[in-house]
Amino acid sequence: MSAPFIPAEIGPNWSRLPLPALIIDAEGRIAGMNDLAEPFLNLSSRSALGQELEGAQMQMRLRIVPPLAPLIARARDGHDALTRPGLRFEIGDRAGGHSDHSATVHLGPVASPAGSVMVLIAPDGSARLGQGVAVRSAARAAIGMADMLAHEIKNPLAGIRGAAQLLAMNLPDSDRDLADLIVEESRRIVALLEQVERFGDTSAPRLAPVNVHDVLERVRQSASVGFARDLRIVTDYDPSLPPALADADQLVQVCMNLVKNAAEALLRASQIEGRTDGTIRLRSFYDGTLRLSPSAAHPGGQSLPLQIEIEDDGPGIPEAIADQIFEPFVSGRENGTGLGLALVSKILSDHGAWLHVDSRPGRTTFRISLPKA
Ligand SMILES: Nc1ncnc2c1ncn2[C@@H]1O[C@H](COP(=O)(O)OP(=O)(O)OP(=O)(O)O)[C@@H](O)[C@H]1O
Ligand SMILES: [Mg+2]
Repeated sequence: MSAPFIPAEIGPNWSRLPLPALIIDAEGRIAGMNDLAEPFLNLSSRSALGQELEGAQMQMRLRIVPPLAPLIARARDGHDALTRPGLRFEIGDRAGGHSDHSATVHLGPVASPAGSVMVLIAPDGSARLGQGVAVRSAARAAIGMADMLAHEIKNPLAGIRGAAQLLAMNLPDSDRDLADLIVEESRRIVALLEQVERFGDTSAPRLAPVNVHDVLERVRQSASVGFARDLRIVTDYDPSLPPALADADQLVQVCMNLVKNAAEALLRASQIEGRTDGTIRLRSFYDGTLRLSPSAAHPGGQSLPLQIEIEDDGPGIPEAIADQIFEPFVSGRENGTGLGLALVSKILSDHGAWLHVDSRPGRTTFRISLPKA
């Protein structure tokens, strides 16, 4: 592979990169840091520039595991680009706390300062950004189709159902069960079709400043007297969060679907394993690092700093359907229509928002990232 040339005069594109990026000079010192690197690494460029990335002084604020130095050396000496997934960034804050992020790192040589290497950090999750958007537009096409079909099927189905009801009246008892089956199953199909039609109905969001805590509290209250009656719902809100730009009713619908899925997963676990301690966690926080790829409307990449997380300690998303949960009619549970998450992704896509899932047995987290009002 030939060496990719990254010009030294990166100019405005440097700060526009949709991922945190660093330039490390021949001595391993930080020679450049773009806008997104500051919040991601929780370091100001003023204090970081000129410091050794993996030097003793930096270790208090940032540890990269395994260390980057050998990769940087390889990128520099081989004059070649490298990609290394699964790195852990242990990032300290001034208060002595620290947070871990896993990320894939891309490294490539830079012409000057001589011997420098650019390090692009793709936090895990952002890698799925492209895929998520594609899934959502696929969902949108499928939903339009399903909506049309639903409309067409409902009329003949009403005829079938009426005929079966008539038949049932004149049949001997032994055969009536079969006619009842037709009636009952067509009723179920009509209910499903109506759900599909409601689904196709969602109008464009009316965006306005929204307090995400009002939204979460509405959902929490209605869940805790309804479907999540027997579960614990705990909240962890950042009270200083600024308002989001969203459609409040649609956001309620989104959060409600996510909380409902969490509740259903926990209740299923309680039936199977006899667990009674299922917990749903509603969290809000600010993360300035998340940005969509640059577009005409947002040349710097739309920033999505407001984060809502809905987490449960249930069994996790079944592996067999994990890749398809946002597609309509994919369900892992009996009697599920599989429309909940397709609707969630459609609404969030209309908002220009971003949804990220992280699921394993014992912890499933759905994160919504929204723009600031
Ligand atoms: N928090 C979660 N924990 C475990 N599995 C989940 C969770 N959220 C979603 N799933 C899985 O994803 C599937 C799809 O969810 P989705 O909300 O789209 O459909 P559904 O809940 O089955 O039906 P509907 O929401 O239309 O009533 C679920 O059936 C379930 O298997
Ligand atoms: Mg659902």
